[in-house]
Amino acid sequence: MIRAKAFFSLSERKRERNRSFVSGLGLTGDEKALDFGCGTGTTSEHLASVLAQGGGHLTCVDISRRRVRIARKRLRHYANVGVHLGHLPTLPIPDGEFDFVLVAAVLHEVKKAIREEIAASLAAKLKPGGRLVIVEPTGKRHGIPAQEIRALLQNAGLEEESPQLSETRYRATYTKPAREV
Ligand SMILES: C[S@@+](CC[C@H](N)C(=O)[O-])C[C@H]1O[C@@H](n2cnc3c(N)ncnc32)[C@H](O)[C@@H]1O
Repeated sequence: MIRAKAFFSLSERKRERNRSFVSGLGLTGDEKALDFGCGTGTTSEHLASVLAQGGGHLTCVDISRRRVRIARKRLRHYANVGVHLGHLPTLPIPDGEFDFVLVAAVLHEVKKAIREEIAASLAAKLKPGGRLVIVEPTGKRHGIPAQEIRALLQNAGLEEESPQLSETRYRATYTKPAREV
């Protein structure tokens, strides 16, 4: 009984942490957003809720069949959400579609051989003027160096803003330059 209570409060704490993370993303609610590497949808459900209030739309993508199945179940009550299974560059998702892209603890899990292709595709999916928020662990055993993330996203044409780097975590916003008129 005590264990069940402790487990419950841990998952509640995680839920609250995700909710607070999403509410700090500065979304207005009317965006078209992409949650790349959505996993089981624990962060996506908070994104979906914010976007449902403002008429926005959420596209979730993950490479894991099992996680996508769980995410679809978790998000089934949101009419403003689509969940895709597969490799982002080959999915039927148009380029220039999104105001906002979230990459939360994903790039370090993406196979090294396809990281450049994924970074280019993430940049391509953004609208000009759109923004991408990335949060990644940077530990040697578990993570990806901040320098590698910077190189990948800047080579893809994105511009880094407000980076925060600690020993274990990198977080930054990247923007896609608006088209010149
Ligand atoms: C640590 S989980 C993070 C899940 C979610 N973003 C979150 O914050 O809860 C990393 C996810 O990245 C996904 N992933 C790894 N490589 C991927 C790829 N090439 N394309 C899409 N998703 C990928 C994994 O399947 C996994 O669900």
